[in-house]
Amino acid sequence: MEQSTPWAMAQARSRLLLLCLATAASVSVLQARAQTDTMGFISIDCGLPGTASYLDTSNITYVPDAAFIDTGSNSNISVEYVTPKLKKLYLNVRSFPDGARNCYTLRTANAGHKFLLRAIFMYGNHDGLGRPPVFDLYVGVNFWTMVNITAADAVVIQEAIVVVPEDFVQVCLVNTGTGTPFITGLELRPLKSTLYPQANATQGLVLVGRLNFGPTDQTDIIRYPDDLHDRIWFPWVNPTNWAVLSTTNRVQNLDDDIFEAPSKVMQTAITPRNASMNIEFYWDSEPQPKDPTPGYIGILYFSELQLLPSNVVRQFYINLNGQLWYPRGMTPDYLYSDSISNDNPVRDNARYNISINATANSTLPPIINAVEVFSVISTRNVGTDSVDVSAITAIKAKYHILKNWMGDPCLPKNFAWNGLTCSFAISSAPRITGINMSFSGLNGDISSSFADIKAVQYLDLSHNNLSGTIPDSLSQLSSLTVLDLTGNQLSGSIPSGLLKRIQDGSLNIRYGNNPNLCTDAGPTNTTLKPQNETPMSHVTTNNSTYEERSLQLENRRFTYRELEIITNNFQRVLGQGGFGSVYHGLLEDGTQVAIKLRSDSSNQGVKEFVAEAQILTQIHHKNLVSMIGYCKDGEYMALVYEYMPEGNLQEHIAGNGHNRKLLSWRQRLKIALESAQGLEYLHKGCNPPLIHRDVKATNILLNSKLEAKIADFGLSKAFNRDNDTHVSTNSLVGTPGYVDPEYQNTMQPTTKSDVYSFGVMLLELVTGRPAVLRDPEPISIIQWSRQRLARGNIEDIVDPRMHGNYDINSVWKAADIALKCTMVASTQRPTMTDVVMLLQECLELQQACIDGSGGMNGNFSTGSSSDLYSGYNAYNAHGQFTDVSQGSTDHNFLRVPTMAKGPAAR
Ligand SMILES: *[C@@H]1O[C@H](CO)[C@@H](O)[C@H](O)[C@H]1NC(C)=O
Ligand SMILES: *[C@@H]1O[C@H](CO)[C@@H](O)[C@H](O)[C@H]1NC(C)=O
Ligand SMILES: *[C@@H]1O[C@H](CO)[C@@H](O)[C@H](O)[C@H]1NC(C)=O
Ligand SMILES: *[C@@H]1O[C@H](CO)[C@@H](O)[C@H](O)[C@H]1NC(C)=O
Ligand SMILES: *[C@@H]1O[C@H](CO)[C@@H](O)[C@H](O)[C@H]1NC(C)=O
Ligand SMILES: *[C@@H]1O[C@H](CO)[C@@H](O)[C@H](O)[C@H]1NC(C)=O
Ligand SMILES: *[C@@H]1O[C@H](CO)[C@@H](O)[C@H](O)[C@H]1NC(C)=O
Ligand SMILES: *[C@@H]1O[C@H](CO)[C@@H](O)[C@H](O)[C@H]1NC(C)=O
Repeated sequence: MEQSTPWAMAQARSRLLLLCLATAASVSVLQARAQTDTMGFISIDCGLPGTASYLDTSNITYVPDAAFIDTGSNSNISVEYVTPKLKKLYLNVRSFPDGARNCYTLRTANAGHKFLLRAIFMYGNHDGLGRPPVFDLYVGVNFWTMVNITAADAVVIQEAIVVVPEDFVQVCLVNTGTGTPFITGLELRPLKSTLYPQANATQGLVLVGRLNFGPTDQTDIIRYPDDLHDRIWFPWVNPTNWAVLSTTNRVQNLDDDIFEAPSKVMQTAITPRNASMNIEFYWDSEPQPKDPTPGYIGILYFSELQLLPSNVVRQFYINLNGQLWYPRGMTPDYLYSDSISNDNPVRDNARYNISINATANSTLPPIINAVEVFSVISTRNVGTDSVDVSAITAIKAKYHILKNWMGDPCLPKNFAWNGLTCSFAISSAPRITGINMSFSGLNGDISSSFADIKAVQYLDLSHNNLSGTIPDSLSQLSSLTVLDLTGNQLSGSIPSGLLKRIQDGSLNIRYGNNPNLCTDAGPTNTTLKPQNETPMSHVTTNNSTYEERSLQLENRRFTYRELEIITNNFQRVLGQGGFGSVYHGLLEDGTQVAIKLRSDSSNQGVKEFVAEAQILTQIHHKNLVSMIGYCKDGEYMALVYEYMPEGNLQEHIAGNGHNRKLLSWRQRLKIALESAQGLEYLHKGCNPPLIHRDVKATNILLNSKLEAKIADFGLSKAFNRDNDTHVSTNSLVGTPGYVDPEYQNTMQPTTKSDVYSFGVMLLELVTGRPAVLRDPEPISIIQWSRQRLARGNIEDIVDPRMHGNYDINSVWKAADIALKCTMVASTQRPTMTDVVMLLQECLELQQACIDGSGGMNGNFSTGSSSDLYSGYNAYNAHGQFTDVSQGSTDHNFLRVPTMAKGPAAR
């Protein structure tokens, strides 16, 4: 038995290496017909300026890379490397002089798919330095390979087959201090998950070599469309030692082929010229810094191309380093593509010798059609939690963050994004736990995406230029313990969810130096301090200095003349008050408004106007009437509000509302709940808390949908921050029948004074009677109700005009809430937060009653949802991908199942 000559072995080796270091000349004549979209290919010409894509000479549509990366710069290769045959792809590169890591992001259709990725490099002295660089390549957060460019005209192609966990894949170039990374081209080809089963979620394959045996021309390179997966098969040409077998018949893949070698590749094979010789080749192990004995996967492709007579046998052994690699004699099938590969990587020697020799029974020498060799890489590192990644990516885009924010936010650890802190657990994806974006020049509002980074514990947005309101969704971040918003331009108030978190001690918020924020650090300096030094007490109608300083209204300012126009000369009066009248108006855009005009004779009005205007510009809530603008024109002062077409609650209780329709119990409860929410916001959503001091049915306004909004903040007062039990004032304010007796005694209103007044209003809603009624002597609604309820009969007090159309438990509960709210001792009264919760329960009781009785609730169409559901099932039944288990005949080998599962035709 003869061995092949050492020369042949060397030849084999050099060809294998040439796959990675093909010359520019050979690449320039690659013949390929590729198309992009229909096959799911992405083909990127890196560094190509502009937006136009082009069809290259081999029919592949290449697109510029701007849509895939936002760093680096375009650079043309030096003219001395431009040859007529050089493909357009090689003329320019993108290089990355800045940043340790620069990444391309390629979006794919679905998560968890398998791809072939190909990165192409030709230096071409594009930077004029004459020093080809060495740098590292990563696929996502996993090391792929070192790229060592050894010559200016060398084309280096790196290829990997990987499973991508997300619906995008990042390819990153990492500067290792040995030259500026650059890239020429980047290609992505989708692969079915059943192909290359050795590539799985934790293991990727890096191409060492892919050879087609049999072509006689060095330039006979096969790729798409001959190979539907656009693998590039380089020819092995050695006419001295090998005879060529070929066929023009199609070589078929089996139905469940795990490699799908293209027919064009399988149509040629080699066999030793000397029939007693073996086929031999080898590759050398290439130790990696982090993997001194890399594992290898070999795939050997065989197909019989000659129709053999029955007395002729071709059978051979496949040996690796002198040991049988495949434990039996191998006889390839005629015109079917067969393959032998190891499913677990081999890791032993420095050199891997493959020898294929005929068995004793064989009458023909061995053959081989093609071979692929891969080394394996770990893809065990998983990227940062994908929800965190999309959120922080959205934040990066919104604020145009540059820094080093590219690639995975947390991994590899030495490339984690500046300002981020991450947690790393063994069995789960890294999470973002800290974000420090202070002094980052951030503009605009606070991105809602912050609320999607669920594991964040520390969020520092201090000292930027952030405006708008603070999103309450941040309160849903259950791990958040520190939120620093200091030194921005935020407005509005601290949302209730966050206030609850402050109150239960789970969150520390810093928000100083936000001049427009409704907090103790903000407008209290100028507007909401309850003490005497508040500018409110300094106000005179002629002092515009004061107006400029404290009435920092964001709202529109109207002239008196404009008011005359929009009210059509104050034609329609909506209501009257001590301050003057409220008029109906129509803005240019058709918006209806209500205008409260201070009457000339009213002195008191100024202070209240200013107070109300200040409050309404600082606080915003859906259950507080909103101010559209104001007028300060000479002695005229006016406030312009949204128009509330359904008037006030008192009119509706009395039956004098629009259409004279009576409110149903459910409507009453809803109005009570909405008013309670507005009050709760004043008490809890503002810091310091605001006391309305004049809660009553005439101050609850209703819009066209009968949604309640609290109006009239002229008497509202802020708590003293340093002593938040009460506010000192020198005069009792409020409306008879609604005034808290404790306040009456102490002259110190508290939030519980509002609770008391609210209780009175709630009784009005239950009974349909005024706060003070005649029975026949004047009596407070509270006493009147208590007396009757003491007899245990709710029917005695419920508004008889509802004709019993209510859930009795719901009414009982509401009455009970009202009585609790109107307890004499304020400590025994619930807070507005409690009241909101209790009223919600009332509404649920009433709702359950309606739902239970059927008919009234037609919002859900069960028919359509069940149809959708069955449609979904049908889709699954037809569309589900069945996992085909690989019938590997032997423990360590994957062998494509042969005829038993193949097509019937032979
Ligand atoms: C490119 O594709 C078109 C359309 O499929 C085809 O007609 C043409 O022959 C192809 N050209 C090359 C050079 O492959
Ligand atoms: C790159 O390849 C050249 C030539 O094979 C070798 O001399 C050099 O050490 C390699 N560089 C690195 C960093 O491995
Ligand atoms: C991937 O393949 C390797 C080698 O066969 C195996 O050790 C590993 O468990 C596989 N990983 C998964 C997720 O199947
Ligand atoms: C072929 O290789 C095997 C394994 O190395 C060896 O046992 C055998 O003797 C060789 N030759 C023949 C003709 O089987
Ligand atoms: C060779 O042929 C003999 C006789 O037919 C048979 O017993 C033996 O199993 C064959 N060997 C191989 C490797 O197929
Ligand atoms: C609020 O008042 C304090 C103390 O008087 C002062 O230091 C701070 O700068 C003021 N803040 C604003 C926003 O004016
Ligand atoms: C306006 O009022 C402030 C504060 O009371 C006072 O200091 C200032 O002199 C007044 N200006 C005019 C023009 O009256
Ligand atoms: C808060 O007010 C109460 C009642 O007037 C008083 O007794 C207490 O000393 C005050 N506390 C502070 C810190 O001012």
